[in-house]
This record gives sequence, C-alpha cells and structure tokens, in this order.
Amino acid sequence: MTVRSYAAEDFEDVYRLRRLSFGGPQEVPTTPDDPPGSASALVAQDDTGITGFLRVWNYRQFFGGRAVPMGGVASVSVQPHARGTGVAGRLLAESLVLMREQGQPISTLYPYVIPPYRRYGWEHVGTMQVALVTLSDLAATPRSSVAVRPATRADLDEIHACYLRTASTMDGPLDRTAPGFDMARKLELDVVTVADGPDGLRGYLAAARPDGKRLRAHDLVADDVDTAHALLRQLASWAGTITDASIRLLNPALVDLTVPGGLQRGFEVHDFMTRVVDLPAAVAARGWPALVEAKPFAVDIEVTDQHAPWQAGRWRLIHEEGTVTAEQGGSGAVQLEARALGPWFTGSASSASLRRAGLLSGSHEVAAALDRLTGAPHPVHLGESF
Ligand SMILES: CC(C)(COP(=O)(O)OP(=O)(O)OC[C@H]1O[C@@H](n2cnc3c(N)ncnc32)[C@H](O)[C@@H]1OP(=O)(O)O)[C@@H](O)C(=O)NCCC(=O)NCCS
Repeated sequence: MTVRSYAAEDFEDVYRLRRLSFGGPQEVPTTPDDPPGSASALVAQDDTGITGFLRVWNYRQFFGGRAVPMGGVASVSVQPHARGTGVAGRLLAESLVLMREQGQPISTLYPYVIPPYRRYGWEHVGTMQVALVTLSDLAATPRSSVAVRPATRADLDEIHACYLRTASTMDGPLDRTAPGFDMARKLELDVVTVADGPDGLRGYLAAARPDGKRLRAHDLVADDVDTAHALLRQLASWAGTITDASIRLLNPALVDLTVPGGLQRGFEVHDFMTRVVDLPAAVAARGWPALVEAKPFAVDIEVTDQHAPWQAGRWRLIHEEGTVTAEQGGSGAVQLEARALGPWFTGSASSASLRRAGLLSGSHEVAAALDRLTGAPHPVHLGESF
C-alpha cells in the first residue's frame, strides 16, 4: 500500500468512497466541494485501486488571541475490504508529515470513532455546542434601544469583523478566513439581521429555517448587552408560529448570561480532538495569557511522540515578556505523552487531570507552571463543525 497526494483524477473514486462512508447523493457531483486552496488531501492506494482518503482543511484557530494555523482533518474513509489493516493509521501518520510541511502546527478533528485518532496522538479538548431556547420564554428579554436591519452585501466585511471581535477573545474558534469560508454565502441564510454601532456593526444574527419547524441560529454575536437583547428579541418575535430555536454557541457565556430562561444547554454537543503537530511552531504561533509574574521563567518538559518524532525529546519552554518559545534541551522535569500536548496547548485540561489520565508524570511544581502558561483548565469551544 502506498500513500500519496490526492490528484484531480481521483475525484470520482474518492467521491464514491466518501459517499459510502458518510452518505450523499449517488450521482457524482460535477464540481468538488473544496474550493482551490481550502484543503489538501491524501489517498491510500494498492493494486485494487484507492483504498483510503483523508482531507486536511486549511483553518486557523484562536488561542490566546492569535489565530494558529490548524489542519482540520476530515473525511477519513477506508474501503470496506481494506478496513482493519492499518490504512487509516498510515493516512493519519502521513497527515502529520504533511501538516508540518504546510506550516500547520496543530490539528483538530471531529471523530466518529475515537481509538484511531487517540492512537495517533489526538485527544479530546473541547466541544461545539448547540442550545435550545423556548421562544415564549424569550419574551421576557428586556427591551432594547438598539435598532436592527437586514444585512446587505456591503455588510459582509463588518459581519466578519464583528465575529472576529468575539472569536479572538475565546480559545478554540476558527478565524473563518480560509478560502472554504465564503462570507457571501451567509446572505443565503433565511435571516441575517445586523445592528449598527457607532463604528461598524455591534452585532448580528444569522439564522435559517430549514424545515419550517425550528429556527436555527448559526451565529448570534453581540458586542454589548443591549445588542444581545435586541437580537434575542428578534428570535422571540418568531414565537407563535414556532415554539423553539436552536442557537449554535460561539460564546456560550453570552447566551447563558442574557437568555432570560428556558435554555436547554447541550441540545447538541459535538466533541473535537486536537493534536500538536509541531511543538516549537505551535508555541510560537499562539498568544499567551498575560501572566502576573513579571520575571521570566522556564518549564522543562520531555515529550514522547512515536508518530511525530521531530517533536519528541526534551524542550525548555521559556516565558519572557508575554511570549513563550520552545528550545531544545533542559532537564525534562515533566514528561508528557503525545496525547497530552493537545489538552495542554489548548488549556482544556490541568496538569493534575493529565497526570490522573496517565499522560503526564514528573515534578508537580514544574507541571503547575505548565498550567500557568495557558491558564488551564478552561473551556475550549468551536463555533462550527467540519
Ligand atoms: C474508521 C475507519 C476510517 C478506520 O479505518 P481502518 O483502516 O480500518 O483503521 P486502522 O486499521 O488503521 O486502525 C487504526 C486503529 O483504530 C482502531 N479502529 C479502527 N476502526 C475502528 C472503529 N470503527 N472503532 C474502534 N476502533 C477502531 C483499530 O483497531 C486500530 O487500533 P490498533 O492499532 O490499536 O488495533 C474505517 O473503518 C472507515 O472508513 N469507516 C467508515 C467511515 C468512518 O467512520 N470514518 C471515521 C471518520 S471519524
């Protein structure tokens, strides 16, 4: 079996394989679903033909206020006759090499099955959540002086800027700049309502009513409470014809703190897993929470990573004036398995939890400094799945 880059001629065979695994129309579409530059892909092949496929979306994910290039692994599929023979494993191992070459120091994926990804170093770090609100309860939302109007094409840049103001303050969301994100497609949604602010937009609501039953809010983004109330009242205005609306949670706290009642959290929860692909590049790319201590400090770690050997070994993480660098060497006072790197980097799990899970060992004091770097533990969220 060989693994190679996907080529345009593979389109039909790969479509049939993906359809077999994930469903879709029987007829092969005439155009690919990945616009140029949006993704790269690998195929596995043997003398029977293409036996496996894996796609890597070009995304960027916010951590510490900076958008870190991220390989979004998706569409991992293996021909039924070839399953259980290590095809997915080979594709995952090769994807690490590919992502490192492409300058994607971290990788995130939504797993249908967990063991293959865990075996190759990805680990659970966060969720994409959808909440359900009862529209009659939203009537209690305070009145707002903020006026709203329908969005036009001229608003697209401001809608994105407004999204980024929220997304960049959270750990986990995409920056939605990749070629796969066509902002203009937002306007195809049934409802796109914006609120003007003194300097651009102060919030927007993008929602669809796909089945005539429930309203689905894809984005509810507000810079301030008056805008949040204005947009929630927009949702409330649907009460009567429909009973509830789902809201995808980009910023769960905003919804938690402003919806007046009847919020069903966890209506949909999708777990995602993250892996560090290139430790020094990942450390250089993210932002770090402002630490109270002004003095520089160093954290010595030793990484075990069979599938990304370039980042195995001892590293000294040096915190100085708000930035962190990873240099080879040091005492290796704390030992981390490859699977610990995702939860550590994203700040989703404390060193104590990683220790209990058998993914971290060594000095307790140095491990506590690892937590201080990222501000762990804290929730990590994505606003969409892929
Ligand atoms: C899931 C899938 C990609 C696995 O491909 P594969 O080539 O059979 O996987 P591999 O042989 O490389 O197995 C890698 C590891 O994952 C484990 N694994 C594979 N499929 C698994 C499954 N469905 N459930 C649990 N573990 C699984 C294997 O046991 C192996 O672990 P081990 O080496 O410790 O024994 C393949 O079965 C498939 O295409 N399924 C349909 C589509 C799908 O569900 N894709 C997953 C998207 S997240």
